[in-house]
Amino acid sequence: MTTVAAAQRPGRLMAAEIAEQPAAWRRLLVDGHAAGLDAAAALIRSRAPRTVLFVARGTSDHAALYAKYLTEIRLGLPAGLVSPSTMTAYGARPDLRDVLMIGISQSGGSPDLVHSLEVARAQGALTVAVTNNAASALARAAHAHVDVLAGAERSVAATKSYTAQLLALYLLLEQVRDGRDGGAGPAAALPDLGDALLARSAEIAAIAQRYRFAQRMITTARGYSYPTAREAALKLMETAYVSAQAFSGADLLHGPLALVDPQVPVLAVVAEGVGGAAMEHVLPRLAERRADVCCVGHPDAVARVAVGFSLPAGVPEALSPLLEIIPFQLLALHVAVDRGGDPDAPRGLSKITETL
Ligand code: F6R
Repeated sequence: MTTVAAAQRPGRLMAAEIAEQPAAWRRLLVDGHAAGLDAAAALIRSRAPRTVLFVARGTSDHAALYAKYLTEIRLGLPAGLVSPSTMTAYGARPDLRDVLMIGISQSGGSPDLVHSLEVARAQGALTVAVTNNAASALARAAHAHVDVLAGAERSVAATKSYTAQLLALYLLLEQVRDGRDGGAGPAAALPDLGDALLARSAEIAAIAQRYRFAQRMITTARGYSYPTAREAALKLMETAYVSAQAFSGADLLHGPLALVDPQVPVLAVVAEGVGGAAMEHVLPRLAERRADVCCVGHPDAVARVAVGFSLPAGVPEALSPLLEIIPFQLLALHVAVDRGGDPDAPRGLSKITETL
């Protein structure tokens, strides 16, 4: 009886995959060679690209945004996110010599991503695919493939594949920077920190109660955490059907702040580091609007708002996104279930979305 009930529990797949994240990270940290990180990093270094472009959709696009910050800050190279339609629908054929194009996709199956990498390769770019499916068309289309080793993901809402993408991109770009496998470095602490964070999931279940009737929400962050705000909004939209909009803390002040009032909860990420410090200018402006702010971040920031979830101290800012998305994944799951929904079966969605 218990087993059948558990098997039918709404959101059980999403919950299980959220919980699997530290184990997935351990695989990648232990076996970077099998993941293809060494070969891809060596190839990138040998070609010394001048520019890095990323192509991705949905959750994977948020991993691309994270990698854009890493590329610009840690590698000192210009980086950008491409619009796939320019090469697919519009037939553009840009000169991509000296460019590294990285395609990021959990499934590796969307035709527009595959086509973009094929065009990029034909136009002179070095191409790398980062996927959770080594047998995918995207993996085959690229010069090199990095497997994020997250294991099969069955929940429609991507969770473990997202943080595995973040870690794979971090390890890849650090290896490109250092020219050798420097070991996991500070990333080695992540799986244990992730386990400790997941052990506090009851805190998020309580916070979810507060938002179970929310129709609209705003998510905001800066720097490395901005992709977290984007991904948190997507998770809330696709599982709990909350109309969630993500803004960088800077962009929020350039206009959207006007729509904030006590009826529109704001979820703010204020991690340790430069991005979190930049959010210190945003929080007082939200307070002026009498916003209902929930803060995920360092304990000082959390202490200043009504609701919050504190992150572990001492995590390098570039690695914080792996941890800080977990409370939002859990929040989306709980809000969806508390509203009577099933986040494993979101309306109108299937696991692989094919766009052209
Ligand atoms: C959201 C989600 C989608 C996918 C998107 C791209 O949870 O899963 O947004 O990220 O459809 O799919 P992939 O990564 O397979 O190319």
